[in-house]
Amino acid sequence: MVFSAETAQSVLKSGDFGHICKPNSIFYNVMRPFLGNSLLLHEGQLWRDRRKIIMRCMSFHHLRTYTSLLNKHSKRIVNDLGDLFADGKSHRINTNISGLFVAIITEIVTGSDIEGAKGGAEFHHNFQKWKTCIIKRLEKIWLHPDILWKFSSHKIIHDQAVSNISAFSRQKLMEHKQRREEKSVKFRNTIDELIDSGQSDEEIVRELHTLLSGGHEMSATTMHLFLLLMATHQNYQDLCRKEIDAIFEDEEQSSNGSLKFEAINRLKYLEMCLMETMRLLPPVFAFMRQLKTGMDIEYEGKEIHVPPGTQVAIVPWAIHRNENYWSNPETFDPDRFLPEECAKRHSHAYLPFSAGPRNCFGMKLGMNEMKVVAAHVLRNFRVESTDRLEDIPLLPTVTVTPERDYNFVMRKRAL
Ligand code: HEM
Repeated sequence: MVFSAETAQSVLKSGDFGHICKPNSIFYNVMRPFLGNSLLLHEGQLWRDRRKIIMRCMSFHHLRTYTSLLNKHSKRIVNDLGDLFADGKSHRINTNISGLFVAIITEIVTGSDIEGAKGGAEFHHNFQKWKTCIIKRLEKIWLHPDILWKFSSHKIIHDQAVSNISAFSRQKLMEHKQRREEKSVKFRNTIDELIDSGQSDEEIVRELHTLLSGGHEMSATTMHLFLLLMATHQNYQDLCRKEIDAIFEDEEQSSNGSLKFEAINRLKYLEMCLMETMRLLPPVFAFMRQLKTGMDIEYEGKEIHVPPGTQVAIVPWAIHRNENYWSNPETFDPDRFLPEECAKRHSHAYLPFSAGPRNCFGMKLGMNEMKVVAAHVLRNFRVESTDRLEDIPLLPTVTVTPERDYNFVMRKRAL
């Protein structure tokens, strides 16, 4: 287990040692029936080629294209939340938030507009069912062998959830092929890249599972936790809103209530609050690598040799709480991300998106999505909560998940 930035850097740094493989461990193996040989679990040249193809849709030009889509979905969630909270009572909003991020990533990756959070809610529910089943399997050691898993009641629910998600992905692929035939494609998306590079429908569907699942779950988890931290730290919420209001009121940064692409970069304080959310509560609390070659690492002050084949767990949750890099680590303090503070810190002390050649390539997209959604929500509502972070246990499931959804109160602002 790696709890230090220095050791994490040795393992994650660029290709020389080739430590980019996901181990053949139960932690990743439980995901294989769902994700198959897709990017998250692939290795070698196949992984390299596939990553290159998919990353084409994460370029600066593409990110600019996605801005109007992010504004459109953010306005829809503001309307949905306005309706939900019109009664002045408290409500749980995790399904709305997750549905929203499913809708955003579905349109970015497949070109289909599934009409906002309501359209994304079913995917989210199936994904949660899948997650619950694989957690049960991880927890119960007797369910690890395939032969026993086959007879488990969880496998029936698991297979149903995977089948529903596959049907959704397949339908999006077919709809996109239809649009290609009709020459009505709005922008070139990941499916176009995968089709044109000769991938089979089955391979594309598996890749969609990875992109739609990973692409909504991390951003939605972060947004849910961010809103709770804003609700329980009203002073920081006010500072974010001051910055957001100034940008919405500047005609060079926004028009018709939509943020321009350049404005996203200007939301610096909001970005610091999102980054601090992911420091305190990194959605991917741990990830693993398998060493292809042996290496010497510093571990608890001693130099030790780690042989090839060793499985290494890198634990951002612990690195983000290591007092060598973070003072008062349990305190929410966005100023840690002021440029001068970042410059003083070890480059691998902050790893919400991992690092090195196998890092998250959706990092910039994820940040842009979260900034635009958060800007619209905080512009339109004062966010409060009847819950506190410390009252609800956080479970180390695939991502960090509160034992139950938080209760929020959102009060509409007069604009
Ligand atoms: C807050 C937002 C996000 C966070 C915190 C996050 C975090 C991460 C982390 C820690 C990894 C490395 C996992 C490992 O090594 O096992 C990863 C990989 C990955 N992420 Fe993200 N992610 C986010 C958003 C996104 C988005 C929006 C996409 C969609 C395009 C995405 C797609 C992926 C993919 C495909 C991989 C696998 C990359 C590879 O193995 O080469 N992520 N992400």
